[in-house]
Amino acid sequence: MQERHDNSLETNSQPKVYIETYGCQMNFSDTEIIHSILSDQGFCISEDEHSANLIFLNTCAVRDNAEQKIRHKLQQLRAIKKTNSSLIVGILGCMAERLKDKLFKEEDVLDLIAGPDSYRSLPHLIELAEGGQKAANVLLSLEETYADINPVRKKGISAFISIMRGCNNMCAFCVVPFTRGRERSRSKSSILNDVEKIINEGFKEITVLGQNVNSYFDELSKTGFPGLLEEISNVDNSVRIRFTTSHPKDMSYELIETIAKQTNICNSIHLPVQSGSSRMLQLMKRGHTREAYLEKIKTIKDLIPGCKISTDIITGFCTETEEDHQQTLSLLEEVRYDYAFTFAYSVRPNTSAERDLKDDVLADIKQRRLTEVIDVQRRISAEEFQKAIGQTVEVLIEGESKRSQNQWMGRTTTNRVVVFPKNSATVGDKVNVKIQKATGATLIAVAER
Ligand code: SAH
Ligand code: SF4
Ligand code: F3S
Repeated sequence: MQERHDNSLETNSQPKVYIETYGCQMNFSDTEIIHSILSDQGFCISEDEHSANLIFLNTCAVRDNAEQKIRHKLQQLRAIKKTNSSLIVGILGCMAERLKDKLFKEEDVLDLIAGPDSYRSLPHLIELAEGGQKAANVLLSLEETYADINPVRKKGISAFISIMRGCNNMCAFCVVPFTRGRERSRSKSSILNDVEKIINEGFKEITVLGQNVNSYFDELSKTGFPGLLEEISNVDNSVRIRFTTSHPKDMSYELIETIAKQTNICNSIHLPVQSGSSRMLQLMKRGHTREAYLEKIKTIKDLIPGCKISTDIITGFCTETEEDHQQTLSLLEEVRYDYAFTFAYSVRPNTSAERDLKDDVLADIKQRRLTEVIDVQRRISAEEFQKAIGQTVEVLIEGESKRSQNQWMGRTTTNRVVVFPKNSATVGDKVNVKIQKATGATLIAVAER
């Protein structure tokens, strides 16, 4: 397709695209890739839904309520389209991939559907949609990593970099392998080039992303995740490095050693466990037991003193008993996570759990167990945060506190949010502060002299 305009001054006539992003960080990172593909073709990226010529939703399908949110949004867009019939509405990402062109029948407001591996074809799909056709591309790829595309990152402190796509794990409850396809890793050289670029642009923190980030492997250079992380962190050791999401079975000793050794790799690990019961973990096809998981946690705590760990928990998975649930609560007590993302099980079409198991835990029991998990974790988080009082910690300033113009907000290497009165330091600086108070998930501090 022809580029729409080669004169960048003609901004008024450029079609405006507004993209709303839902779901995980991979989706937010994908939106930056889509911005790049579209602005190269002369589209103008707009922050304003109401003046846009094209509205895209980059969607999540991981739980039913994520999809319901999108259905609701599409109803709103239908109202906007009534007043602007030339508006093009598209659905991108995981829900597009899961439901494919069935969505055209269910949602007449839609003009375009594009799955996560088809973003290079967006300009063509838009052209078809503008010609009045319903346009879809939901082909998954074995190779696509968008390695050569320069994501359009919003200026700021923290940047995402996607290093692998897809997932081969096939956890029984999870739709991701179906929406994002087979696992593939981007070449090390393209990642390192991007890291240099990110650092030259002034970012102070890089989050390395993948659905199963620690199973990264670059065939060409024979580099695994620990090696890659070490090289990334060596590019500039004043820049903080984070990564997500790790799978427990790929959390190797070598990786833990690398995090311990490299001072700028943050001391915060997100390690989803899902359940504290080995019976549940087996049914979930997680590939680890409670004991093996706890062994990894012990290694992390031994090798990286002070490292904080967070997790994901699902309550009410198929056949979960009260005893299984109690094991999840006792695992929370044993690990003492800093934070947990908690979900009631939501059956997903075409997953092996949907096919082979029964979603037999009643909704109110799932919910009650979820509340118990949340309550226990909330108490543990509060207790852990209290322990920080009196400590001096290094904080990377991200911006103004939401609550007060007179306060900075930043994060510790352990990913805890800290607010403190503004001083001569500014956004992007690292400062030492002394913790005075802990409220909920925020630490209150004063700057050290
Ligand atoms: N690749 C990542 C992210 C997967 S989705 C990982 O392995 O952790 C993020 C979280 O959503 C999962 O960890 C799981 O806790 C939750 N989740 C996934 N499928 C779900 C389902 N069907 N019902 C409820 N929660 C689910
Ligand atoms: Fe889903 Fe499991 Fe893959 Fe995570 S590791 S994306 S939970 S299949
Ligand atoms: Fe959702 Fe897709 Fe991410 S299903 S969690 S947006 S990989």
